[in-house]
Amino acid sequence: MEEREDFMKVLTPREIVSELDKYIVGQKQAKRSVAIALRNRWRRQQVAPELRDEIAPKNIIMIGPTGVGKTEIARRLARLANSPFLKVEATKFTEVGYVGRDVESMIRDLTELAVNMAKKEEQEKVKEKAEELAEERLLDILLPKRKEEAKEAEEGEKVLEVVRSGRSDQSSTREKLRRMLRDGKLDERYVELEVSNKSVPMVEIFTTAGLEEMELSLKEMFGNIFPGRKKRRRVKVPEAIEILSQEESQKLIDMDKVIEKAIRMTEQNGIIFLDELDKIAGAESRYGPDVSREGVQRDLLPIVEGSTVLTKYGMVRTDHILFIAAGAFNISKPSDLLPELQGRFPIRVELSSLSTADFVRILTEPKNALITQYKALLATEGVDLVFDHEAIEEIALIASRVNERTENIGARRLQTVMEKLLDEISFDAPDMADKTVHITKHYVAEKLKDILEDENLSRYIL
Ligand SMILES: Nc1ncnc2c1ncn2[C@@H]1O[C@H](COP(=O)(O)OP(=O)(O)OP(=O)(O)O)[C@@H](O)[C@H]1O
Ligand SMILES: [Mg+2]
Repeated sequence: MEEREDFMKVLTPREIVSELDKYIVGQKQAKRSVAIALRNRWRRQQVAPELRDEIAPKNIIMIGPTGVGKTEIARRLARLANSPFLKVEATKFTEVGYVGRDVESMIRDLTELAVNMAKKEEQEKVKEKAEELAEERLLDILLPKRKEEAKEAEEGEKVLEVVRSGRSDQSSTREKLRRMLRDGKLDERYVELEVSNKSVPMVEIFTTAGLEEMELSLKEMFGNIFPGRKKRRRVKVPEAIEILSQEESQKLIDMDKVIEKAIRMTEQNGIIFLDELDKIAGAESRYGPDVSREGVQRDLLPIVEGSTVLTKYGMVRTDHILFIAAGAFNISKPSDLLPELQGRFPIRVELSSLSTADFVRILTEPKNALITQYKALLATEGVDLVFDHEAIEEIALIASRVNERTENIGARRLQTVMEKLLDEISFDAPDMADKTVHITKHYVAEKLKDILEDENLSRYIL
């Protein structure tokens, strides 16, 4: 299978962990587990086919309090894996309006994502050719005299023949124009384009067959009733190139191949992150007309155990999709889940609560650290924000204390504290005379003292 390498970036577990380290502080065990799970998918691909199909993915439950990085780990992992990745909240399926079988919709959504990914990959492959064709078509539009060739341009491939055969070389104007086009000298010019109008009236019909299928058949229907409904639009040259390239690449890629590849990607590499799993475990909810939690678990079971789901692209087998579940599990426990479901999530990892020292690191170390974000934001106003290390320690300490006294929301607390701390500077930044702002421990204490001392205030403001 030569295609495989396309969508499997092969990182070792150690490399995966070190990538995750760039964004998530601590939580070593959880990072290791997801890294192993990801690597195992690749290992499975290398195993002889008879055995390969027997190897089930080792699904994971991440257990830990709120705001300690569960979702963040899953999100970052998805980027690394280059796999179709879907995040769903298990509670979504207990809401009114959902019928049981809608749990299958996550597989349909995942497949949809995979189709988009596969399509992008294929489009990337034909990008150069599509751009060449688009350039020819644009030149045809810019040179209305050459109508005969413009007709041929419609047939795509022929245009290249024209160029290759040197027929268009005779036209020095065309080549001059091409130069100008490539040098961006025509960027301000407008051209008129015929673009196919794809939008169809959206009719929402709720059926048990699922909305997606319905939408598709409507599109097909309308597509057949008004084939090639076109619209004339005036656009600038760069936009025209973009539209034409898009059209050409649509024609160049083979959608059947894209779909086939997407289904394979979903079945072999798909990852579903099932958040809030704890909320569907344990006793039935006592209030509200919710779909029973156990009912949702029962519906989940076949999907996690491996079954076939009908999507609009065809049948998708779920046997090898990796499920990573997460939940705080402070009221219910994993052992409250249906035994069969427990068996399908053999790996449990606990994430620890974050200490003050972790907060200091979270504020400063990740690539997207909060301090880095605020510095960048204020730099756009010409303000240079400088934090003393003691000031950062003070922020971390205050966040920890508020978490202890009110509700522990983990690292999310840092966001509220930072926002409050920099409230005045954020407001005044454009009008400041002195463009260097030094944040000292004293400044932090001063700014947040009142709120910290008054528990009611901190409850509402921080
Ligand atoms: N260990 C960590 N390292 C760096 N940032 C973190 C860490 N934990 C949490 N954060 C930050 O806090 C925010 C919330 O974390 P996250 O969404 O992962 O929480 P969670 O564990 O999924 O909580 P919940 O149970 O409420 O869903 C993230 O956006 C992230 O920026
Ligand atoms: Mg979360």
